Amino acid sequence: MKQRTPGRVFIPIIMISIIAIIMMVTPIGFDMSTGFFGFFTNTWNHFVETYSSGMAIGIVVIALIMLLIINAINKVVESQKFKGLSPEQQQQYVVMSKQNYFSRLINSGRYRQTDEEEEAIILDHGFDGIKELDNALPQWWLAMFYMGIVFMVVYVLAYSFTDFAHPEIEYEEYNSKQQALVDKWIEENDITIEGAKNKYLDPQAIEEGKKTFESLCATCHTANGGGGIGPNLTDDFWVNKVQDSLFYNIYDIVYNGSPKNPQMRPFGKKGELTGLAIEKVASYVYYMNQDLPTVSANEGGAAPQGEMIPAWAKDGGSTAPAPSATGNTTENAEPVKKDSAQ
Ligand code: HEC
Repeated sequence: MKQRTPGRVFIPIIMISIIAIIMMVTPIGFDMSTGFFGFFTNTWNHFVETYSSGMAIGIVVIALIMLLIINAINKVVESQKFKGLSPEQQQQYVVMSKQNYFSRLINSGRYRQTDEEEEAIILDHGFDGIKELDNALPQWWLAMFYMGIVFMVVYVLAYSFTDFAHPEIEYEEYNSKQQALVDKWIEENDITIEGAKNKYLDPQAIEEGKKTFESLCATCHTANGGGGIGPNLTDDFWVNKVQDSLFYNIYDIVYNGSPKNPQMRPFGKKGELTGLAIEKVASYVYYMNQDLPTVSANEGGAAPQGEMIPAWAKDGGSTAPAPSATGNTTENAEPVKKDSAQ
């Protein structure tokens, strides 16, 4: 008669498996930490989260009671079988069961059948003199096999019919969390007109400003700034003068819109562009106006509108110093603080 696996061995193993399986099918509702230690903190948080539900605890308690009952039944079966053994076999069984379970387990791993035992389980087909033994599969192997089947069923059901492990849902959750962080960052780090700097000498800012211009502004001002519905931004004529310096004038118009024409809408006020984005696109418009050649009416640009403002003119030097002549990346003129520019 085979020795019984003691309850103190199989009950904890099955309980740990049940606890782990319940955790596996419970969606994670916290922000996961990364890295090596993240694994442990995540597991712990997941455990706490899963077992703060009465249902999960209920399942675990019921499983424990069932296992204790199974263990008790096994004991009864064992003693019944024991009674049916011959006195020698009983003797042998008692000696064996005195041994520690784990040393018995290790010894059984080294155990090899005797020739007679082998004779009894040999299959009578063979090939080239190679015969096959009908060995029973190891218990641990069978246990893993059955656990695999249970896991597969639970996993497929959970995957198909619950929110567990859904790439799209996980992606959206993660994405909206990240987006919230980005929005928060922008809110905390965004600038107003007072904090804006003319970055027309910073190639990266110009590149980003250009992208914004092409996607949002080119419809009315054309990609080269020559103008269409909106005025030519490359010439020295301006319809609006709401600030003393050119860069801040552009920033102000893009933030607050044109006071004269609602077609030039308030991109900043409406929340279409952040202060940081306006800083870049205004730098780009400034760069287009100062460093790129004027797109004349002959070249498809719009005819000059508004007044010629000598202080902002390209050549600058002839009538008034251009801001770039100072050698600074920012213009010296301070923006006029206006409440609407906040
Ligand atoms: C729907 C069309 C439209 C779009 C889009 C548009 N604008 Fe304008 N923009 C105009 C019009 C029209 C004016 C002239 C306003 C006026 O007459 O006061 C103007 C004026 C301006 C001015 C002042 C020009 C001057 O002579 O006073 C600047 C600077 C400017 N726009 C920059 C931009 C930038 C930068 C963008 C993109 C973020 C943009 N605009 C998007 C139509 C547009």
